[in-house]
Amino acid sequence: EIAALVEADTPLAHWPKRFFAVSNNVHRSGLLLGDLETREAGLAALFARGGPAVLAEVERAGLRGRGGAGFTTALKWRFCREAPSENGHADKVIVCNADEGEPGTFKDRVLLSAYADLVFEGMTLAAGVVGAKTGFLYLRGEYRYLLDHLEAVLARRRAQGLLGTGIGAGEGPGGGFDFDIHIHLGAGAYICGEESALIESLEGKRGITRKRPPFPVTEGYLDRPTVVNNVETFLGAARIAEHGGYWFRSEGTDRSAGSKILSVSGDCARPGIYEVPFGTPVADVLADCGAEDTQSVQVSGAAGVTLTPDEFHRLLAFEDLPTAGSFMVFDHSRDLLDMVRNFAGFFAHESCGFCTPCRVGGRLVLDLVDKVAAGAAGRHDLDELRDIAQVMRRASHCGLGHTAANHVLNTLDKFPHIYRDRLRMSDYTPSFDLDAALA
Ligand code: NAI
Repeated sequence: EIAALVEADTPLAHWPKRFFAVSNNVHRSGLLLGDLETREAGLAALFARGGPAVLAEVERAGLRGRGGAGFTTALKWRFCREAPSENGHADKVIVCNADEGEPGTFKDRVLLSAYADLVFEGMTLAAGVVGAKTGFLYLRGEYRYLLDHLEAVLARRRAQGLLGTGIGAGEGPGGGFDFDIHIHLGAGAYICGEESALIESLEGKRGITRKRPPFPVTEGYLDRPTVVNNVETFLGAARIAEHGGYWFRSEGTDRSAGSKILSVSGDCARPGIYEVPFGTPVADVLADCGAEDTQSVQVSGAAGVTLTPDEFHRLLAFEDLPTAGSFMVFDHSRDLLDMVRNFAGFFAHESCGFCTPCRVGGRLVLDLVDKVAAGAAGRHDLDELRDIAQVMRRASHCGLGHTAANHVLNTLDKFPHIYRDRLRMSDYTPSFDLDAALA
C-alpha cells in the first residue's frame, strides 16, 4: 500500500489533514511524525538533565504502551529502574518489540524504515533511565529486508558515540553510560510478539508464553530486569524527551495522551499510515482515508473488534477502542464471512500448540467456518462455534488463544446474516450480547 501511495501523483492540497506516508511530496503532520529531522535532542536532554528528569517528563506526558495494551510507560521504566539486580544496574536489558505480526498492522515497518534513529534514540533513553547496558531489537522475520538498513544506522550511531561505551560522557549528569543494541531476527511466529514468548525466543528457546507475574520488568531476558516496549513507544519517548510531557499531552484525551499511528488498509481511496490524536472517532479516519459505503471496520487487527456502521462514532482511545494501530476497512462489496475464514485460518496456523483450547479450538473453529461457507452447516453448528470460541477465550494459556475467536463472536452477534444466509435459516438471531459480557 505504501508503494502505491508514493507513486500516487496526488496534489498536496488534496491529502487530508492527518495523512502521512513515506514520500517526499506528501503532507506530514502530527506529534510523532510531523518533523523528519532528528537532532538527538532527546538524548541531549538526558545527558543534560539526567535519567530521573527524563523519566519525570515521560510520566508527565502520560505515555502508554503503543503495542496495544496501554500500560503506563513511565511506570514500566520505574519498576525496572528500581528492580534489584546483582551487579548494580549493569545487567538490565531494553527490548524493542518489532515483531509486528497482527494482521493489518504495518506502522512499525514504516517507522523502522523512515525513523530508525528516533526508535534507537528512545531505546538509548530508556537505557539511560533504567541503567541498562544491553539492548535488543527483536525484528519480525518477514522484515528481514530491513536488516541491512538498521545495521547501518546502528553502525553510524556507534561511530557518532551514541552507542557503545561512555555515551554522552562529559555532557552532563545523565551522560557517561554504556549501552549497545543488537538485532535479533524472529522466524515468523505470531506468538513471539507476546513479550514473554519473545524473551524465550531471544534466549534461543521455543516461543511459548511465560506465566506473568513475574513481569519482565523484574524477571525478563535471562531473568534480568527487562523493559519491553513497542517501536512506537520508544519513538514517542524520544519525542517527549525532546519536547516535554506537557507538549505531548496537548493532544489526546485524559486517559489516552498524545497521538496514535494507524495502519489503514482495505476498501478506501488512501490506505497508508496515519497519525491521529487519541480520541478521534472512527468516522473521521474513514473520511480521511476516503472510505465510502463502509460495511465494517476491524479495529486492532484480527484479534480486535468488528464494528458496525452504527459504531463509527466510537473513539480510538484506551477508554473506548484501544488499538495497536490496525484499521481495516470493508465495504459492502465484501462478504464478511471471507474475513472470518481468513482470520480463522490465521489463528489455526499461528497457535503455538502449547495448550489444547487454542491448538484444537482454533482448528475446530476453522472447520466449522468452512462448513458454514460450504452451505453444509445447521443451527447446532453455530451453537458449537460459539461454545468453542467461548472455551478458547476462557481457558487458553495466553492472550493469543483468549482473543483468537473474537472475530467469530463479534460477527455472530453483529453480522448474524453472514452465517444465517448460508444456513437458509431465517429464524437465526444472536443469543449472546458480547458488549454486555465484556462490560
Ligand atoms: P498486558 O496488559 O498483560 O501487559 C502490557 C504490558 O504491561 C506488558 O509489557 C507487561 O509486562 C506490562 N505489565 C502489565 N502489568 C504489569 C505489572 N503489574 N507490573 C509490571 N509490568 C506490567 O498485555 P499483553 O498481554 O502484554 O499484550 C496484549 C496486547 O497486545 C493486546 O492489547 C493486543 O492488542 C496487543 N497485540 C498486539 C499485536 C501487535 O502486532 N502489535 C499483536 C497481538 C496482540
